[in-house]
Amino acid sequence: MNSDKKKQLDRITTSGDNEVSAYLEIASSKQTEQINLDVPNSPETIIVIDYGSQYSMLITRRIRESDIYSELISWDSDFDKISHLNIKGFILSGGPDSVSNDDSPTLPNFVLESNLPVLGICYGMQLLAKTFGGEVLKSTSSEYGQSLLTLGSEPCKLLDNLPSKFSVWMSHGDSVKSLPQDFKLDAFSESAPIAIMSDINNKFFGIQFHPEVIHTQNGDQIIKNFTVNIAGCLQNWTASSFVDEAISAIQNEVGSKQVICALSGGVDSAVAATLVHRAIGDQLTCIFVNNGLLRKDEANRVIETFNNNIGIKLLDIDAADEFIDKLRGTTDPEKKRMIIGEAFIRVFEKKAKELGEIDFIVQGTTYPDVIESETKGTASAKIKTHHNVGGLPPDMEFSLIEPLRNLFKDEVRKVGTELGLPSEIVFRQPFPGPGLAIRIMGEVTKDKLNILRAADWIVMDEIKKANTYYDLWQSFAILTNNMTVGVQGDQRTYGHCIAIRCVSADDAMTADWAKLPYDLLAKISSRIVNEVPEVNRVVYDITSKPPGTIEWE
Ligand code: XMP
Repeated sequence: MNSDKKKQLDRITTSGDNEVSAYLEIASSKQTEQINLDVPNSPETIIVIDYGSQYSMLITRRIRESDIYSELISWDSDFDKISHLNIKGFILSGGPDSVSNDDSPTLPNFVLESNLPVLGICYGMQLLAKTFGGEVLKSTSSEYGQSLLTLGSEPCKLLDNLPSKFSVWMSHGDSVKSLPQDFKLDAFSESAPIAIMSDINNKFFGIQFHPEVIHTQNGDQIIKNFTVNIAGCLQNWTASSFVDEAISAIQNEVGSKQVICALSGGVDSAVAATLVHRAIGDQLTCIFVNNGLLRKDEANRVIETFNNNIGIKLLDIDAADEFIDKLRGTTDPEKKRMIIGEAFIRVFEKKAKELGEIDFIVQGTTYPDVIESETKGTASAKIKTHHNVGGLPPDMEFSLIEPLRNLFKDEVRKVGTELGLPSEIVFRQPFPGPGLAIRIMGEVTKDKLNILRAADWIVMDEIKKANTYYDLWQSFAILTNNMTVGVQGDQRTYGHCIAIRCVSADDAMTADWAKLPYDLLAKISSRIVNEVPEVNRVVYDITSKPPGTIEWE
């Protein structure tokens, strides 16, 4: 297996709504090469070189927020990886290493050979200093937090339109002690005598603090000064330009061949399918598998939206009984996932074969998945099997179309809006591929599914009525494996205990339990015990992630 395929197999994603097609990605990657969907006329691009800082991805996001395309690559990547892009400049990220160590990450040759502007941030600045003969002081302690920056009397172009003093966010150990030849000092801070340095002739700039974090005042302006004023980017990378370019790339790649897509109802697969549909119309067939583990009315809503409103050719398969049969007797969470993944592949494969000759499969992979697999290697510990389900390869031979593989989730949403998808789909909360099966503790049965569906519907209904739905990452009910004693009317009851989980998060890597108003919790609780006869107790989950995970299984 080549290393790209190995990485694909090792990939763990948290997007949460697209597991379906991830199974297929794994399956199909065994037999096929990935096709290159890079646009022929690449947008102007700033490459961020990752030295391992926790903020590296944030730099890329900040640049994109100003309508300039940016990609993040590891410092040891080959130039081949980015040679197809219209690169206008490089940003070197921060990182935990010390440039004084022998084996510390280095500056790739192609950066200097490109003759393009370079901005080094923190470790990136120290790397520039070391490369051009400056002195870097190895520190014994670290500096974190706010620091007051004072600009010199003739600050370089990087500092255009900035006040002479402002507060910046420092997070570093080492610092630059003496300037390299041809560099001048542009600013100092309370703790860093050389806080900004520049070699304006060669367009090399170094800053000790982090302009990408919100705690740095004027950070956006500094990044814009570099990307727009120094590197000359035009700020024309928008959802609409992306859609136009992606459509023509898909048309070129697919020609008159046939394409399939597994639609889960989640935002990623929905946007990917709609984009491909825009490009090739009825050459695309979507397959929606109802695994019987969906929420109340969910299958109908997906079918209705895609079939009737968007007009995508959609085959819906009701395989609920098959999935529930296969899950019978299984209580282990990971086994449930494996069974569901495998059952899905079998159902999908059968349908795909009936369609005749198919060349491509659409996959809703997004940029965090790509970065996770390419810059950080494989995840260290398997917490849950999300998308990296192993051992299910059917003999499917498709090439992948991954039109969203360079987009962050919020950019996928912008593209979805640009394509005219309804906001219920574009801003939908993530829902896990194994569905309600991992929200029912213990064995999954039809009865338990019905109880959970009824309770979950009430949670969603009240959260929406309270206008809280879009503020939360996820909000849902769990059927705990506990029966408790209660009293309703004058009757003793012995019923199920439902847990409510509502979390806020940016990316699901971490999450905080939502501090919902007591009145709202009270309303949800009383409706559930009154409207779902099998339930006599409701509890609220007040665990953050870590140490908890979002889903209970
Ligand atoms: P955890 O529970 O790991 O969840 O904190 C993080 C995010 O991933 C979703 N999730 C899954 N998505 N298949 C999926 O497609 C899965 O097996 C799975 N498990 C969790 C979860 O809903 C949350 O958004």
